[in-house]
Amino acid sequence: MSTIRVEGLSKRFNETTALDAVSLDFPAGSFTALLGPSGCGKTTMLRLIAGFEAPSEGRVLFGDALMADPERQVPPEARGVGVVFQSYALWPHMDVAENVAYPLKARHAKKGEIPGRVRAVLDVVGLGGFEKRRIEELSGGQRQRVALARCLIADAKIILFDEPLANLDMHLRASMVEAFRDIHRRTGATIVYVTHDQAEALALADRVAVLSQGKVLQAAPPQEVYRAPANATVAGFVGRGTIVSGTAIGHAEGATTVDISGHRIAARSAGAPAGPSKILLRPEGLRLALAGLPAKVLGSIYRGPVHEVRLALAAPGQELLLDSTEPVAIGETVHVAVSDAWVIPGG
Ligand SMILES: Nc1ncnc2c1ncn2[C@@H]1O[C@H](COP(=O)(O)OP(=O)(O)O)[C@@H](O)[C@H]1O
Ligand SMILES: [Mg+2]
Repeated sequence: MSTIRVEGLSKRFNETTALDAVSLDFPAGSFTALLGPSGCGKTTMLRLIAGFEAPSEGRVLFGDALMADPERQVPPEARGVGVVFQSYALWPHMDVAENVAYPLKARHAKKGEIPGRVRAVLDVVGLGGFEKRRIEELSGGQRQRVALARCLIADAKIILFDEPLANLDMHLRASMVEAFRDIHRRTGATIVYVTHDQAEALALADRVAVLSQGKVLQAAPPQEVYRAPANATVAGFVGRGTIVSGTAIGHAEGATTVDISGHRIAARSAGAPAGPSKILLRPEGLRLALAGLPAKVLGSIYRGPVHEVRLALAAPGQELLLDSTEPVAIGETVHVAVSDAWVIPGG
């Protein structure tokens, strides 16, 4: 029942196609991040799952139970889904405990059991002892934790998050990543987490679905999306690195030999690409060496503890990015050894 299945799901608003024939399963107990730039359809996907929008085409199922198709929709309150948005929507005139208990009271839970359950979920989000605090006395991060607790108390088996950390500063976001992982472990709920922040998606989820213009470009574990992106758009959106042109010239023992500007390197690939190819080179797969690809230093920025060095290959427009522990002089010619590269599928 807590598996979410999305089949051929499309949503149009007048001329805008917000979601374009997306099919994706969210297995029971999985934690999926929907990652993509603003306007790519992430919120629309969540709203369709929650029941705040009706599909133009396709279906939403929980397990085998139909939640929505273009003709019939189960209302949001009957779907048993918890939702947390970017804006916390807390009631300012109620204290923390009253805010958190609200979903239980709305469902006429037994009065005696409410304080214990409130305490339990406040402990989960790290706000034990804050029951009597007023909302306006809390920081942004604490308010978001109250919203989380209010969602958790309903004990939903499906929880949807729409950029819940977008309004928080970087330090707080990092600490909330731990809280979300913990909530997932404790509840075992099926979680769909929308974000435009690739670092957050990689850190949180056990699967990342990358969206662009209403389509899912790749849905895979974080390491796979990072190391083996399905296309140039995914590669550009996740992690640092550059894409250069090369020619695949042979295969041996699972590696593809690629010629880049007359130098041969070994690359990972899907299948057996041949001929002109696009090669993804990430900073950790490159280092300055005595021999290798000749390149000219274009720029260097100290990122602490390393210098991020931007290099130009001989071919026009082809750049590399690598991390160097030593500073390098702009204009200098260096050599780059390649220990890891990925041939982007489909050339
Ligand atoms: N209620 C709506 N009416 C008209 N257009 C909408 C509506 N909701 C979303 N859109 C459009 O659909 C596209 C996807 O929006 P959205 O799902 O909010 O993207 P994201 O959450 O990834 O930023 C955008 O072009 C947006 O302008
Ligand atoms: Mg959105």
